Amino acid sequence: MKTLHLAAIAIAALCWAYPTKADDAAARGEKVVDQWCRLCHLRAADPPNPDMAPPYEEIVERPGRDEAYFVRFLEEDHFPMTIYRLFDDEKRDVVAYLLSLKSQERRAP
Ligand code: HEC
Repeated sequence: MKTLHLAAIAIAALCWAYPTKADDAAARGEKVVDQWCRLCHLRAADPPNPDMAPPYEEIVERPGRDEAYFVRFLEEDHFPMTIYRLFDDEKRDVVAYLLSLKSQERRAP
């Protein structure tokens, strides 16, 4: 009885912590990026650092960085980090996150 109760609480907590709506793909992608990519990639607010990879806000403004480009990029090895592997759903979420940065930038005055 007590176990069942705890399970119900755990499930409720999971639902609360992980929203499953499709438009939350970008939010999930941001979590993937925070977990695996911040080792190298600067945040937009960080001071420039030539030893680090550029912030995504800058990358998405490069010419030709559209959805197809990022999908292909995530399928390839990523120099200098050739060993990272994401699951397919994580790749989709990361692309959604990158594209969301792009549209934010476009909306800015
Ligand atoms: C070991 C360091 C490192 C890690 C970890 C890393 N990157 Fe990079 N990334 C780089 C470097 C270096 C570049 C090249 C910088 C440039 O293009 O100016 C780069 C470039 C990129 C680009 C731009 C490609 C282009 O052609 O414009 C994207 C997108 C990118 N990384 C995504 C990611 C994602 C997503 C992750 C996490 C899953 C990640 N990176 C993790 C080092 C890293």
